[in-house]
Amino acid sequence: MASSSQVGAAPVSRQRLEILADPETLAKRAADWLLDVATSEAGIFSVALSGGSTPRALYELLAGPPYRDAFPWARSHFFWGDERFVPHDDPQSNFRMTREALLSHVPIPAENIHPVPTQGFSPEAAAAAYQRELMTFYGAEKLDPKRPLFGVTLLGLGADGHTASLFPGAAALAERRRWVAAVTDAKGLARITLTYPAIESSRRVAFLVAGKEKNAIFARLRRGDGALPAAHVNPVGDLWQFVDAAAAQALG
Ligand code: 6PG
Repeated sequence: MASSSQVGAAPVSRQRLEILADPETLAKRAADWLLDVATSEAGIFSVALSGGSTPRALYELLAGPPYRDAFPWARSHFFWGDERFVPHDDPQSNFRMTREALLSHVPIPAENIHPVPTQGFSPEAAAAAYQRELMTFYGAEKLDPKRPLFGVTLLGLGADGHTASLFPGAAALAERRRWVAAVTDAKGLARITLTYPAIESSRRVAFLVAGKEKNAIFARLRRGDGALPAAHVNPVGDLWQFVDAAAAQALG
């Protein structure tokens, strides 16, 4: 059940839905969109990447021409919206997935890559360390709606309506002060996740959703079902939803 401190969904006026034919077309559209956004802005371009399986095709596309040669890697900084609390070379690591699919293939300065620390820390200490890294990057300890932390935040949608590692019923859903939280009360692996305040400090949030197994939950998201953590993402900027036809099937 939605906790009282969860804010409502982004107004429909600021929601942009695009239904693409299939996962490949979805990845291509997302790559073109991300390149457009990155090259339309001057200065530092910061991205919070999503994990899971859906964004991998996008990352693999960005690692090749024409994106690899056109993307402003030198002024782009990559963070993660969430991470599984495992070593970076673990098969379940979102950092590892992104490194294999994208980062090891493109000319991005090492100092522009900001993985979640997962070794030598407790989950709580790792969350605090990542918050410090974000604050150092941002240059302040208080988020200013006029100066969003991220140019783009990419998000996925879990079959239970979670996004990043904001799971139904998790204590992190109620967090409105910290930017990063440890999630140790959800099923399975401990995780580190951006909280709603950090995710919402984005000029654009883009959900990437693919597959027929997501069509029921995506239809609930579109209806603004408050029981879904993903339905409470209300960025200061625009909310985009890139979905494939299979995931959009139940929209009616
Ligand atoms: C993670 C993600 C998570 C993911 C959803 C959807 O670390 O798992 O960040 O929020 O986006 O679980 O995952 P799929 O894309 O694999 O369906």
